[in-house]
Amino acid sequence: MKVSPSLLSADFANLIPDLEMINGSEADFLHLDVMDGVFVPNISFGFPVMKAVARHCTKPLDVHLMIVEPQNWVSQVRDLGAEYMVFHQEACVHIHRTVQAIHAAGMKAGVSLCPATPVGMLEDIIADLDQVLLMSVNPGFGGQPFIEGTVEKVKRLRKMIDASGSKALINVDGGVNGETGRLLAEAGADILVAGSYVFGAPDPMERIHILKSLSQA
Ligand code: DX5
Ligand code: ZN
Repeated sequence: MKVSPSLLSADFANLIPDLEMINGSEADFLHLDVMDGVFVPNISFGFPVMKAVARHCTKPLDVHLMIVEPQNWVSQVRDLGAEYMVFHQEACVHIHRTVQAIHAAGMKAGVSLCPATPVGMLEDIIADLDQVLLMSVNPGFGGQPFIEGTVEKVKRLRKMIDASGSKALINVDGGVNGETGRLLAEAGADILVAGSYVFGAPDPMERIHILKSLSQA
């Protein structure tokens, strides 16, 4: 399993120790949650903070934009050196154009779906995607309970991806822990995002290791 710890649950007044922990851990990515107070009812951090984080992080960045008009920020995300730029289907009218712009900027493109958005919304773009990020909570906050229906949604998306020949990885975000992570792995998830499960633990690296050890059925 690939693991993408979310910085949202780190100590924002003292990020260096948390970034060093991530750098020294088995994590595959660092997940960065950008919130604008419009698409979601919360504001997290923006580009000045992410630029500073990028200077200290040795893991590839998985940037999750919970913002309106995500197409306006492609060059800024590229300037961070991000591996993935992930934006919401619900926040973008011209998804195809935005995916092309992300690829033209040299990044991998991901589209995220809120819990109530069906995976079928991506049927005609799935072949062009590098990642689908399924939200297993309503986006905006860390520490929310896992929405159980996401497990079946992962199975449906797995079928769609495998049938289409798409190389998109399935990433799942929200309420992930050892137990929900196991269900998601068995359902066909490729990447798990975890915020409070990792940073809320006395030994965050052990939590990363637990998720890392999960495998698909
Ligand atoms: C929520 C964010 C998540 C958040 C997950 O809107 O997209 O990445 O950090 O937090 P946990 O793992 O605590 O549910
Ligand atoms: Zn996220």
